[in-house]
Amino acid sequence: MPTKRPEERYDIDPVDGSRREIVGGWAQEKHLRLRHYVDISRAARRKFGRNSTFTDLYCGPGRAAVKDTGEVIPGSAIAACAEAARHASFGAIHIADLDAVNVSACRDRLNGEGLGPISTYIGKAEETARQVVSKLSPSGLHFAFLDPYSVQALPFEVIQTLAELPKMDLLIHFSAMDMQRNVKQLMSNGKLDVFAPGWRDHVDPAVRNDVAVLAVFRHWCGLIKKLGYQDVSDNVELVSGSKNQPLYWLVLASKSALGQAFWGKVSNVTAQHRFDF
Ligand SMILES: C[S@@+](CC[C@H](N)C(=O)[O-])C[C@H]1O[C@@H](n2cnc3c(N)ncnc32)[C@H](O)[C@@H]1O
Repeated sequence: MPTKRPEERYDIDPVDGSRREIVGGWAQEKHLRLRHYVDISRAARRKFGRNSTFTDLYCGPGRAAVKDTGEVIPGSAIAACAEAARHASFGAIHIADLDAVNVSACRDRLNGEGLGPISTYIGKAEETARQVVSKLSPSGLHFAFLDPYSVQALPFEVIQTLAELPKMDLLIHFSAMDMQRNVKQLMSNGKLDVFAPGWRDHVDPAVRNDVAVLAVFRHWCGLIKKLGYQDVSDNVELVSGSKNQPLYWLVLASKSALGQAFWGKVSNVTAQHRFDF
């Protein structure tokens, strides 16, 4: 994927003078589903009180401007935590990003909304996942949002580490366009081994890109299941663009049947949008 330069990816918010991300309109749909999931799981969260947490390992700066409309929207951490605060706040919020400027902007914006308590981390997700998990109670109810730009920033190790907690639900977003375009390159440069270890036993590198992507994805879902999650292939939503092009996948991984049922209610799954295994 051609890497965007920082000046294409961010601008400065005139209201608070901090960085904000420039996003496509689809980001709003992503946050809508994130907020719905937080909303619908409120009763479970209430039972755990302070022992319920939210983790955002790719938090971004906490505010975004929609490219085509100029609309200003909260980033994922603010969207999720503000939604939770309406009924049952998270007992602790953990935000992390590779980019230190994003982490501090996101922290300030959470603080500005009175959302907390917040712990911050800077670094690659595989490192920050380990740091966050070391602070979480094994008896707590946890929810993590994983929102990298590309699968290259989502080593399977991140999911493995988070999955050490018995009650850790994951909502994972990644770009189907990126995967579709780059799958062959990822196969040849070894980066697919990091995202989906063992893919070579399940995917024929000679097949068409779209077929290869499906096979990699099926294998990746199987890896998640082996960590004790329900079958995530039931919880995959493929969101398509206006020309029916695949834009992104949202995957909910939960070890409980309840989390799975919640996702069924919020994911707007339709025949066209189901990931067709
Ligand atoms: C799609 S943006 C996040 C947007 C944010 N979740 C939201 O919805 O408001 C992806 C973020 O991942 C960060 N990032 C890139 N590579 C990373 C890595 N290896 N580990 C952690 N964060 C990374 C980028 O700095 C960027 O802020």
